[in-house]
Amino acid sequence: MITMPFPEGAWEARGNHIRNTVRQGRAAMPSFREAKISDAELEGLIDALLRGELANAATGEE
Ligand code: HEM
Repeated sequence: MITMPFPEGAWEARGNHIRNTVRQGRAAMPSFREAKISDAELEGLIDALLRGELANAATGEE
């Protein structure tokens, strides 16, 4: 989904978009409420995505 760190100026907008997508659902994606992913978990995931920490997780490359 995100393959490199996001420019910091875009973090707030991108974070809001991801948060809304998870909490409200979007098109074919179902919504996931607090019982499925807690606020703390979601904020941690968004943070990791924006910082690019998961960028190479799929391939295992550094
Ligand atoms: C908490 C984990 C997840 C995050 C952070 C996440 C995030 C996102 C984001 C940001 C998009 C793009 C929305 C856009 O078009 O602007 C998306 C799309 C989508 N996601 Fe997720 N997602 C998650 C879990 C899931 C799961 C578990 C499913 C399947 C059950 C799923 C199914 C989809 C689908 C089908 C789309 C395409 C929606 C469409 O345009 O039709 N997502 N997701």
